[in-house]
Amino acid sequence: MTRSVSEIEVYHSFIEQKSAAFYHLKCYRGGLVDPEEPISIDERRKYLHKTPRNARRNDLLNPVFPLSGGRLTPWFPANHSIGAAMTHETLYNVMLWISFPLALTTFVLLRFVTAPYGRYKRKGWGPLVSNRLGWFLMEAPSAMVFAYFFSIGNVPKTSPLLLFFFLWELHYIHRAFVYPFQIADTKRNMPLTILIMGLIFNLGNAYLNGSYLFLLSDGYPVSWFTKPQMILGIAFFTTGFLINRWADKTLRALRKENHDEYQIPHGGLYHWVSCPNYLGEILEWGGWAIATWSLAGLSFAVWTFANLAPRAYAHHRWYRQYFPEYPSERKALLPGIW
Ligand SMILES: NC(=O)c1ccc[n+]([C@@H]2O[C@H](COP(=O)([O-])OP(=O)(O)OC[C@H]3O[C@@H](n4cnc5c(N)ncnc54)[C@H](OP(=O)(O)O)[C@@H]3O)[C@@H](O)[C@H]2O)c1
Repeated sequence: MTRSVSEIEVYHSFIEQKSAAFYHLKCYRGGLVDPEEPISIDERRKYLHKTPRNARRNDLLNPVFPLSGGRLTPWFPANHSIGAAMTHETLYNVMLWISFPLALTTFVLLRFVTAPYGRYKRKGWGPLVSNRLGWFLMEAPSAMVFAYFFSIGNVPKTSPLLLFFFLWELHYIHRAFVYPFQIADTKRNMPLTILIMGLIFNLGNAYLNGSYLFLLSDGYPVSWFTKPQMILGIAFFTTGFLINRWADKTLRALRKENHDEYQIPHGGLYHWVSCPNYLGEILEWGGWAIATWSLAGLSFAVWTFANLAPRAYAHHRWYRQYFPEYPSERKALLPGIW
């Protein structure tokens, strides 16, 4: 009880500070103040009655910042310079808006060139590194960059925000520190190019999601738990997480049975689709986008789909070619549909 009262107070004081900072930034953009000047207490008081959400609504009608349409509020507390805030905000906006066309391009490319790891590994993609080391180096930075933003962020650490932090780390600590050591056959490897591309994606993605949630967002009050998007998003995330873990475990069991050959997976969702692990992953990050209600989350969900949908299709086609007896009613990714 005491804890939730103090959470509400902290959240409100944050919103007040932020709305003041937001209006100061607007004045700067209108050429009215010096970007390096800290915001004074008086100026802050002047704007206390405004809220970022109202400010944002006004800005939608009257955009001042071309890239974001003025929709994003600055991250900095009152005594930081506007110049610093704008540099950060600009970097975030540029990366965010580039991420969507890049994901689309990746999706189209992956329809023609299947990523050369696992069963599609082939020569010409650089030196090889062990699967175990590759997965670890690709995924660990996601957990670390996100934790870094959590530690420096000034957005109040309310319970919903703590839950987002927990879910992200739950996924990435498993993917980086547990999954690579569960892979049965340590002799399998992947090209360095895959490692580097995965690493770049993970760094950019953790930057976008971490800096949005912990520095740029308006925060998530305790009442966020009762919002339909939070309830639906967390339900999607949890379902996807469980499906992904179970499906990967099923494949690992097959690999343990036979180190050299692929086998047809059976049981559970494998009755319906060839790649329930990818379906679970897509559900997870779709749920994340809905629960956080953020463009950074949406970018992650779109990227996950762009990476995994073409790969699911390639796996499905491969299974059908490799195993003449492959169940004909099974689809690639979406039960009964595709
Ligand atoms: N968020 C993203 O953008 C993203 C991108 C990529 C991967 N991921 C996630 O990372 C995890 C692994 O991805 P992945 O592409 O490596 O998945 P995968 O191709 O399904 O392979 C997973 C593991 O199971 C083995 N395996 C697969 N099919 C098998 C079969 N029929 N018989 C025996 N063993 C089989 C693979 O061995 P081989 O290595 O020898 O094929 C590999 O060790 C998944 O959970 C996926 O969702 C996420």
